[in-house]
Amino acid sequence: MAKAAARYVCQSCGASFPRWSGRCDSCGEWNTIVEEAAAETAPKGLSAGRGRKIDLQPLAGESAPALRRGSGIAEFDRVVGGGLVKGSALLIGGDPGIGKSTLVLQVAAALGRFAGAPGTVYISGEEAIEQVRLRAGRLGLLQAPISLAAATSIRDIAATLDGASPPELVIIDSIQTMYLDNLDSAPGTVAQVRASAAELIRLAKRRGFSLLLVGHVTKEGMIAGPRVLEHMVDTVLYFEGERGHQFRILRAVKNRFGPANEIGVFEMTDAGLIEVPNPSALFLADRHSEVSGATVFAGMEGSRPLLVEIQALLAPAPPGSPRRAVVGWDSGRLAMVLAVLEARCGLALGAYDVYLNVAGGLRVGEPAADLAVAAALLSSRLARPMPAGTVVFGEIGLGGEVRPVSQIDQRLKEAEKLGFTDALIPPLGGRRKTPASGLNLASIAHLSELVARLGGRGAPRGGAD
Ligand code: TYD
Ligand code: MG
Repeated sequence: MAKAAARYVCQSCGASFPRWSGRCDSCGEWNTIVEEAAAETAPKGLSAGRGRKIDLQPLAGESAPALRRGSGIAEFDRVVGGGLVKGSALLIGGDPGIGKSTLVLQVAAALGRFAGAPGTVYISGEEAIEQVRLRAGRLGLLQAPISLAAATSIRDIAATLDGASPPELVIIDSIQTMYLDNLDSAPGTVAQVRASAAELIRLAKRRGFSLLLVGHVTKEGMIAGPRVLEHMVDTVLYFEGERGHQFRILRAVKNRFGPANEIGVFEMTDAGLIEVPNPSALFLADRHSEVSGATVFAGMEGSRPLLVEIQALLAPAPPGSPRRAVVGWDSGRLAMVLAVLEARCGLALGAYDVYLNVAGGLRVGEPAADLAVAAALLSSRLARPMPAGTVVFGEIGLGGEVRPVSQIDQRLKEAEKLGFTDALIPPLGGRRKTPASGLNLASIAHLSELVARLGGRGAPRGGAD
């Protein structure tokens, strides 16, 4: 029998190569490739065994709706699409220390509040039972019907869970610490993480419990990124937040049982995570509207409107190449907005360092923030604060034209609710009727109109209308 050849597997994306290299050709990460014994045997030819005929079904068949159970933590339930689905597998990824263990423990306890609930099994591969108890004590959850174990062997875990009455939810914290003893690779390698997860997911489907896998995302080190698991599970959640900020955002990036891009907002406190039902108020809490360079963007995160402050600072740069530093937004998009301001509005910005920050540690991904970013940049450049009580949104095209965005009514309603009085919005076009809103609406068709509005010099319009 041929000796199993070694292969070299990227711990970040799971690509495998016949030889080692410093940089993964597939995902571009450095120092992520390690040697793993090839576990799979070569697939046998199709002639080796005859297949069984499978049953083909019509598309319009009957099927039962997914059985869900809400935890009662509204910010969590909405992100997973209305509750945990029986037999489904979720992955929660996030940086170490962001609060994943805290979140899953709180969810487990919340699920256990229902009378007759079969309870949750929490298996920790990272912490001793005492540590988990200590956390539960801090959260005031010591009475929750949660069965604890500190274990890492999938064989033992599967034998335990396959017993007579399965739990409702099984939490594995974290999947990188689990191992299957029939594989040679070390725990945390792609082969182990993938095989361990596959085993647990199969069991969850068969026994009908929800499976919650916790996974670390690290830039370097030997721990496999949970990205290799993303196609295996039904739902992928990311738990994000900036260090030094107490806000935590749970974001669905994939969901077979609900909308993706939904977010839930939490605040990390001394007594665990607290839901933030009105995040706009929180993100705008420490705002000083009389400062130049700050605008309020009326954004959407999933199905929910969210107002955030966008701050810009332009400072004279020493000769050479000026700095562009961005926190919470896409740097490529900032470069585009700067280029459009220069080319279409005649503003010279090349002599300035540009800093852009989304306040509160949120990451904004919407192109609808373009106009708010442009307003913040202009306000800083002209040293004039934005008019008080104004929200801004709109996408900017390369011609300097401002384009319509979706869900205008929801954005305006949220702004009105929070006491704003004015909105700078994209033109609505002939087809759409004016949104019913108590705000004074000003539609901005071209970026040069924004310049004029903020008191800049009349600018050339560079062609586009
Ligand atoms: P943890 O859930 O252990 O993070 P992870 O599992 O993602 O590694 O929580 C990490 C941090 O949260 C830790 O620094 C302490 C802090 N924390 C609080 O601020 N309040 C709390 O009630 C708890 C339990 C933790
Ligand atoms: Mg943890």
